[in-house]
Amino acid sequence: MHPLLGRTLVGGAAWVLAFAAACTQPAPAGESGPGAPTAVATAETTPASIATPAPRAAAVGPDFSGQAAYEHVKQLADVIGSRVAGSDEERKAADYIATQFRSYGYTAEQTPVDFEVADEAVAELEVSGAKRIPTNSLGFSASGSLSAPLVAVRGTGQPADFPASANGAVVLVQRGTLSFGDKVKNAANAGAKGIIVYNNEAGEFRGTLGTAGAIPTVGVSGDAGQELLTLAQQPGAQVRLKVETQSVQVKSRNVLAKASDTCSYIVGGHFDSVQAGPGANDNASGTAATMEAARVLWPLAKQANLCFMAFGAEELGLWGSRIHVRGLSAAERQALKAMVNLDMVGVGDRWRISGSEALVNQVGEVADSLGYKVSLAPSGRGAGGGSDHASFIQAGIPAVFFYRLEDPNYHLATDQAKFIDPTNLEPAGRMTVELIKRLAAAG
Ligand code: BES
Ligand code: ZN
Repeated sequence: MHPLLGRTLVGGAAWVLAFAAACTQPAPAGESGPGAPTAVATAETTPASIATPAPRAAAVGPDFSGQAAYEHVKQLADVIGSRVAGSDEERKAADYIATQFRSYGYTAEQTPVDFEVADEAVAELEVSGAKRIPTNSLGFSASGSLSAPLVAVRGTGQPADFPASANGAVVLVQRGTLSFGDKVKNAANAGAKGIIVYNNEAGEFRGTLGTAGAIPTVGVSGDAGQELLTLAQQPGAQVRLKVETQSVQVKSRNVLAKASDTCSYIVGGHFDSVQAGPGANDNASGTAATMEAARVLWPLAKQANLCFMAFGAEELGLWGSRIHVRGLSAAERQALKAMVNLDMVGVGDRWRISGSEALVNQVGEVADSLGYKVSLAPSGRGAGGGSDHASFIQAGIPAVFFYRLEDPNYHLATDQAKFIDPTNLEPAGRMTVELIKRLAAAG
């Protein structure tokens, strides 16, 4: 099962139904003022589960404070924890972030990021006599439902292993020697309509074709494979094979902070994390720097139409940013001059800047003026995927990405706040603040 929380299954299981011709079988069943973090206390959340941050010790000054940002990292990563898209923790994090934005003076709304992702298919095998044997669909199997003769293939699915009778059949192929993807290609080339791969040892196995397969494909244990081999020897042995892609409905959200009706500039970062860990660097760090930049830039925010965003569901495919960009009206898109993406800004000592060339070069000038050393790579991660700036660039909106590469805890359970040095959070924040000031001054 996919490690998504709060999910709704859509679609059905993958199953294979095998039966002798003589025997018919039923189909099987198959989320104030500027200063240090403010505790969350909205009706949308469970305040008791979020620790109240220490009372403001000293007033936070007008400049970007690495320590203030670090307090947000601790809240998001240590207190809330792993923030998988669609989970309660992601929702609590959104409430926390919205509360901070409001405490600086912004309006903050949460907008829905609803989408479906493919999940692993659950597979079942039913043989004559109503005996059910578990099967797994192999990743990237084609979907489909079919009835066909069951034909055993002698070897492991080399082209020459397929008898003429494989044409139009569901073929039974042993695991081993060839990749699953190659077995499927060879079977399809031999005219097979479906393929069952049985393990070359007793137990079950899991696997993937790597890329989309042409025909429905399932895997069965070695034991089940032996049973099916026996069945295939019976005259008229038929198999009914069905693979249905299961999908999971995910309800994530973005948090959008505004000072006016328009967004001429957006500074943001994703606030969801992978399941494996609390995502302190990836990306409580960028979210925290976004919040602290919002606090520092509040005096400019109304006149310069500054917006700040925390994106949901980045880790599942940039969903939050893609859905936001897709939802922009032509006028909103026209008004939006630049986006700054902060992702993984707390660990490592080499700054990389990528994205739209003109912006990257401008960050180079900002870095020089502030005395930070950065590597400019306009065609680095900014060009392809990787993080939320890509959604804006793909829509023709200039965007720039601040990040560092060297994080030994990337996507691990050890991506914890204790590995982030608060002073590490300052350069990205200060460069962002200065960049936005220059962009806004230039109009
Ligand atoms: N924060 C990472 C991207 C990243 C990686 C930034 C290394 C800086 C250094 C992001 O959350 C991520 O994991 N992206 C995925 C792709 C995404 C579409 C799931 C990636 O880069 O593989
Ligand atoms: Zn990530």
